[in-house]
Amino acid sequence: MKGIILAGGSGTRLRPLTGVVSKQLLPVYDKPMIYYPLSVLMLAGIRDIQIISTKTHLDMFRALLGDGSQFGLRLDYAAQDEPRGIAEAFLIGEEHIGDSPVALILGDNVFHGPGFSSLIASCVARLDGCELFGYPVKDPQRYGVGEVDAAGRLVSLVEKPAMPRSNLAVTGLYLYDNDVVDIARRLTPSTRGELEITDVNLAYLAQGRARLSELGRGFAWLDMGTHDSLLQASQYVQLLEQRQGERIACLEEIALRMGFITHQQCLALGSELGSSGYGDYVRELAGRAVPAA
Ligand code: DAU
Repeated sequence: MKGIILAGGSGTRLRPLTGVVSKQLLPVYDKPMIYYPLSVLMLAGIRDIQIISTKTHLDMFRALLGDGSQFGLRLDYAAQDEPRGIAEAFLIGEEHIGDSPVALILGDNVFHGPGFSSLIASCVARLDGCELFGYPVKDPQRYGVGEVDAAGRLVSLVEKPAMPRSNLAVTGLYLYDNDVVDIARRLTPSTRGELEITDVNLAYLAQGRARLSELGRGFAWLDMGTHDSLLQASQYVQLLEQRQGERIACLEEIALRMGFITHQQCLALGSELGSSGYGDYVRELAGRAVPAA
């Protein structure tokens, strides 16, 4: 399976923070925002990943993550000049996707909770059409909202409904078979001028090939579009990391646990991180037996 991280957009709601820096590179406690969605794809076992951002910001992502080989990944980069919609990712990424299935994740989404990696792994294994992830929220009208039957099949989906039929927001992680490229090609822009991801999902729904798994209580799904939500995400990560002594979305750790890199390579990455607490953590885990993810 190939991966795409969509990290474009103009970040207007976060100005002046986003005056010169991409929103998806802003700090979320101890690491840049993009580490969080990247960690999700890595936990799903995906190693071929394209990062899509605006032309002006791509070089910063390249400077941070390079070709990904330090984490045992193959990263490439592509530009989206204007935010013409989330579904444009499949047109920009067409060559990268080739004839594979693909996971798309929004660059400003944090997913964290028990059993998440095994949930994604089982969704990848049974993928036939599209797999979405729903999360109960108190303000569903801000999101794509889904309804499922007892078997987990999606039965209705509406983008930002005025009168939501459920409280299940469709989160920014989407798994698709290769038909997604053709479906995206046939889309027309919505009234807000975007190629809507919800229209892609509705095409799968019409074929009866859309499923939605609920991320329940005890799970954290955070999207960081405002100053408050950005701070809350940092506070969430800080609280858990300080309490448990384990880091969330530490790419070096995930690469090691997934068997993408050796202990030796992990130690080298730790040394490059210098005297930061994050660096101490990476060096420490390189030196001990780490269970597989
Ligand atoms: O966060 C989940 C929600 O994301 C879903 O529930 C909705 O169904 C889906 O449409 C989307 O909602 P928004 O329309 O509110 O997403 P937004 O425009 O905020 O874009 C989400 C992220 O994707 C944001 O960080 C910017 C980036 N983006 C967005 C667009 C439209 C791009 O990189 N390029 C784009 O063209």
